[in-house]
Amino acid sequence: MSITDEGEYGKKQINTLEMIWGEGFLSPGGSDEIDLVLNNKSIKNLRILDIGCGAGSAAFHFIRKHSVGHVTGVDVEKEVIDRANQLKSKYSFEKLVDFKVIDPGPLDFNNASFDMVFSKDTFLHIKDKESLAEELFRVIKPGGFLCVSDWMRVDDNYPSQLMQEYIKMEGLSMNMCSLQRYSKALKSPGFKNIFLRDRNAWYLEVAKKELSDLQSTYFEKLIDILGKDDADSTIKIWNKMVEVLEIGEHRPGHFYAEKPL
Ligand SMILES: C[S@@+](CC[C@H](N)C(=O)[O-])C[C@H]1O[C@@H](n2cnc3c(N)ncnc32)[C@H](O)[C@@H]1O
Repeated sequence: MSITDEGEYGKKQINTLEMIWGEGFLSPGGSDEIDLVLNNKSIKNLRILDIGCGAGSAAFHFIRKHSVGHVTGVDVEKEVIDRANQLKSKYSFEKLVDFKVIDPGPLDFNNASFDMVFSKDTFLHIKDKESLAEELFRVIKPGGFLCVSDWMRVDDNYPSQLMQEYIKMEGLSMNMCSLQRYSKALKSPGFKNIFLRDRNAWYLEVAKKELSDLQSTYFEKLIDILGKDDADSTIKIWNKMVEVLEIGEHRPGHFYAEKPL
């Protein structure tokens, strides 16, 4: 959320998003949404890669609730990794998770390094979905799986005027595509048992509540974090986001896929 001049995910953005979505969360839905993305898979004792881990919300949840073996969280922004490391120390999870700043592009991990790759609301920032799918397939072990939530679009046509206005207001690199494009990209390297879940209706209701909270209970705190002008801009961004959710063009969703043995 580029609601300030700090770049894509600076301190003020992190503080704003954590106020709305909870400690460590830079995306909506909390632990319940993360569990839905897992698609009923057991992740006990598994080695997990979280791409775009942000401030570490999913890693901490996997450790607390799912007794995972180890999580590697990677992100392109130093500020969010600093925040993730701060929370890791606070919760004394040093041995169970590593957070690393990475460069965008190919993943610096050996083939078949992870049992599961997880990602929440990050792939929209990555343009080349086909190369991404190849990389995901490469780093997952045979028999392993992929669990992803992302912000997508209804189709792969050029965005409508309203959507262009929304993307411009967000000020982020948003390369949103359809669930169907992901499905096709995943089949190419050999993923099987692909499952897609649309979350537009769910997030529309959540986003309306977030907007109402931003305008009321959160407003004073929002001004403390951002100042009055950026607080007002944030409300405008949320308003526009609700509009693109309402017309059905902005479609958050999940996908799950397996790498055969
Ligand atoms: C909306 S936040 C979600 C963070 C976290 N997954 C969560 O749910 O709280 C998107 C994250 O993706 C990161 N990001 C953007 N481009 C990336 C890339 N190419 N590789 C890895 N992370 C990226 C951003 O820095 C940001 O932390």
